[in-house]
Amino acid sequence: DKGGYKHFMAKEIAEQPSVISACLSAYLTESGVALPDPGIDFTTIDRLTISACGTAYLAGLTAKYWFEQVAGLPVDVDIASEFRYREPPIPPKTAALFISQSGETADTLAALRYCRDKASVVWSVVNVPESSIARESDLALPIHAGIEIGVASTKAFTCQLTVLLLLALKAAEDRGRLTPERRDDILTALRALPGTFNAALGRDEVIAQAARRLSEARDILFLGRGLMYPLAHEGALKLKEISYIHAEAYASGELKHGPIALIDKNVPVVVLAPKDSLFEKTVSNMQEVMARGGQVLLVTDSAGAAIAGNDVWKVIQMPEVPEILTPILYALPAQLLAYHTAIAKGTDVDQPRNLAKSVTVE
Ligand code: M6R
Repeated sequence: DKGGYKHFMAKEIAEQPSVISACLSAYLTESGVALPDPGIDFTTIDRLTISACGTAYLAGLTAKYWFEQVAGLPVDVDIASEFRYREPPIPPKTAALFISQSGETADTLAALRYCRDKASVVWSVVNVPESSIARESDLALPIHAGIEIGVASTKAFTCQLTVLLLLALKAAEDRGRLTPERRDDILTALRALPGTFNAALGRDEVIAQAARRLSEARDILFLGRGLMYPLAHEGALKLKEISYIHAEAYASGELKHGPIALIDKNVPVVVLAPKDSLFEKTVSNMQEVMARGGQVLLVTDSAGAAIAGNDVWKVIQMPEVPEILTPILYALPAQLLAYHTAIAKGTDVDQPRNLAKSVTVE
């Protein structure tokens, strides 16, 4: 049942305020982050190794920034199909974490089985609690996104991010890295996130307009720095999957090491840049793109738009959130851009060619 929407993907995008809220209620009590038994004690862990595929991998890549910056915990993130065959050494006091919407992805499950007897503990972040990956973990954390039908993962991604951020906060607390003030600020903003998401859904029409132009492009680049770098990959992946337009993501700082050669007036460049601590640097990369005729679509907040919004082709303005929450909120414009571009191209949004919802074979 599409609940009045044209596509499951549109319904699932719109459900995000309510599923993020469900996810928060499952893990956040008055007193802070609460995990199901047997719980997690990050003081016993020196390192985290994360494996996953596709969008779940990109949630893991985002989590690396959170765990390292907020909790000071070193994290390796791998594409599960690479991890499983590389025979990576697993040092003592390593927790292995697997992220999977379906909980049945063959490569992710094989990566988990590789870690079974080597890692101190095996955790998973899944949408299907009775899945193989959940069953074979010491602790499975459900994301409470509800059934996801669209092949392009949307609400599962933002719920994965929500759980991963809560885990990073728990790690920061256990490791004595979080002042009570910072913790309270983040938790307050997290509790407000469903409302913020609702407000951001109001940008749908502006995004649809921009997407009509994107749908005429042959190649599109996505740029981001820091927490926006994994999300640039997610924006490009979503766009490729459902609109079949070639899209690539780069860390903004990598631009001058090669990809800037691609820029001309026919290559739209989506720049994901809230007014965060790295904003000025991203803006200077953006200016390099514009100096070569590149058409920039800037996704930012009001402070960012005031500084850098004038000369770009289009601005999509998001509500303000603390920097740490930007990956969750900015997933929404990335999803909507892909969705509306696919609609403008007339492709099959829910059943894109050559793709299956769950990849249970290698
Ligand atoms: O079920 P999983 O989360 O393990 O699936 C992993 C990928 O196959 C999945 O995220 C895929 O990349 C999506 N189609 C992305 O939208």
